[in-house]
Amino acid sequence: MKKPVRYPPVVTRFPHFLHGGDYNPDQWIKWKDTIWKEDMRLAKLAGINSLSVGIFAWAALEPAEGEYRFEWLDEVMDMLAENGIIAVLATPSGARPAWLSRKYPEVLRVNPLRRRNLHGERHNHCLSSPVYREKLTALNTKLAERYGNHPALGVWHISNEYSGECHCPLCQEQFRGYLKKTYPSLDALNEAWWTSFWSHTYGDWEEVESPGPLGETNTHGLNLDWKRFTTEQFVDFYRCEIAPLRKFSPGIPCTTNLMGTYPGIDYYRLAEALDLVSWDNYPQWTGTEKDVEIAVDASFKHDLTRGLKGKPFMLMESSPSATNWRPVAKLHRPGVHMLQSLQAVAHGADTVQYFQFRKGRGASEKFHGAVVDHEGSENTRVFRDVAALGERLKTLDGVVGTATPASVGLIYDWNVRWALDDVHGLLQRNTNYEQTALDHYRPFWQMGIPVEVIDSKRSFDDYELLIAPMLYLLREGVAGAVEAFLRRGGVFVATYVSGYVNPTDLCFQGGFPGPLRDALGIWCEEVDALYPEDRNTIEWNGRSYRAFDLCELIHPRGAETLGTYGADFYAGRPALTVNRFGKGRAYFIAARTGQDFLGDFYGRIAGDLGLVRALDGLPSAAGLPALPPGVTAQVRSDGRRDYVFVMNFNPREVTVNAGTPDAKTLAPYEVWITERPC
Ligand code: GLA
Ligand code: ZN
Repeated sequence: MKKPVRYPPVVTRFPHFLHGGDYNPDQWIKWKDTIWKEDMRLAKLAGINSLSVGIFAWAALEPAEGEYRFEWLDEVMDMLAENGIIAVLATPSGARPAWLSRKYPEVLRVNPLRRRNLHGERHNHCLSSPVYREKLTALNTKLAERYGNHPALGVWHISNEYSGECHCPLCQEQFRGYLKKTYPSLDALNEAWWTSFWSHTYGDWEEVESPGPLGETNTHGLNLDWKRFTTEQFVDFYRCEIAPLRKFSPGIPCTTNLMGTYPGIDYYRLAEALDLVSWDNYPQWTGTEKDVEIAVDASFKHDLTRGLKGKPFMLMESSPSATNWRPVAKLHRPGVHMLQSLQAVAHGADTVQYFQFRKGRGASEKFHGAVVDHEGSENTRVFRDVAALGERLKTLDGVVGTATPASVGLIYDWNVRWALDDVHGLLQRNTNYEQTALDHYRPFWQMGIPVEVIDSKRSFDDYELLIAPMLYLLREGVAGAVEAFLRRGGVFVATYVSGYVNPTDLCFQGGFPGPLRDALGIWCEEVDALYPEDRNTIEWNGRSYRAFDLCELIHPRGAETLGTYGADFYAGRPALTVNRFGKGRAYFIAARTGQDFLGDFYGRIAGDLGLVRALDGLPSAAGLPALPPGVTAQVRSDGRRDYVFVMNFNPREVTVNAGTPDAKTLAPYEVWITERPC
């Protein structure tokens, strides 16, 4: 387990939780004398100490080419400073003024059908366009010069939710440049992408094009490299954005707000460029028992976001109430706002921020949850919820900067996601990689054992247990790292559909799971895909568990068989194996299973390994009572004090009795925070 330490706060001079959110004073310039003033009063009343400004303000900052208007932002920044509110100041690249698209149409994004978009929406720019970068750099430079040393400035918020891709001629050129750097020759590229298939061999670099529905979609190596290239485009664009900020405000951290498991960008790669990781969390709460599933999903994404850098992160956006873009914009039930916010904190967030501070009057987000409603006063339920959280955060200064001690590492790899989303065969692009990762995460959530979600290229040194659901694509060096992990005594769990392909989606020869064969001590001869109504079973430990979707027919090659299939022509053949390797053990689960199996299986492993539970701080092997279903416990620690968060995601009261001196009753959605020395 990583040594728990204390990291510096997000804003070094401010050792408290940041509490606030997206603030759009540029929408209210005409009414600033009343609205802005009132905003400050309400923010303070709600315990808000930070506001994100300028996110979509390019048109207000540069209404015509080269004509800058900073007066309003000067006023806003001064007003924030006077009111003791930290500014999270954005660069405005997420959307742009109409004059820019009109004068320089090449800044508009080109879609996969090779059609150029019209002006409008947001995230609608070409990532390569020199003129877009030039205009943006000019504005970012002015922002940095003007506000780089402003007393309100705390964090740079780069753009907003980078997403999408551009297929314009300039981007095609850049893509070919990227490929030339990646492959030593065109021949090497042809081999890596297996282009002899369907006569797709390239004779000249100029023939290579991005994938798209009018052309090539079936060359999987091309598809993967296009995703990697797009990721590199965003990294490069981000670096271009922060260059002037670094120059004029070197000590101010830069981040861009991510979106959980958004598939378009490899966030592990992008995170390398960020000082701090931040993300936007919009769980679709239902107000029913289903919320447990939603909670597991949100926890997973928090653990993934934290895992990007392995340190505390910012919750940059969340809704204090309804989320307008959900098909059903349901209100948060009483208690849910506190719960979802502290859930983020429990998993490593050092900020709780919202979209949005005040509801706008028009356009598509006017009904999105906000701290301040159209009604305009502090006399709303949502405002009171926010203010109550503000009060509670003030009591939690000790938690700021604390680490999350996790001894379980769960691999979630964007390369695997891309390759599996593209797979022809198995379950035809419905192989459900993300859901499978969640399924393997959930037992730990329910046991209250912290997990870090990590890339396959991350060092495994910090973990006792390493779980790699569906590690279909194996990147360079990963199998070797798994073997080293096992040699030193680690426990590794792999599943069906592992070690099938290399980084360019070429199948390994000599039998699956390819380079993982020795570690796992098995050979997978075939994989059976089941219809939704089909069922098999895994017989293990005197019980019969559901097996469905995908069942591999494997042969032990050194591994011991622990469980077998219960039905079909492969009844009696191995379905669960363990291989002793070095000082460690490598388990292989050959079929997709449900929580019945995964709960028992991981419960057994946690017990064997004595993994420490957050709530009682005791090894799982101690056999203490489990947490009630739908309740999790997570811990943050600086190595001297543990802060334990026990969270009830049930719409009903529960009693927790897990090694605490007394049973503790939690109201629906209640969060109980308890401290102890380490
Ligand atoms: C995203 C964006 C915000 C806003 C919210 C609404 O997260 O970053 O600008 O549109 O969604 O939920
Ligand atoms: Zn482009």
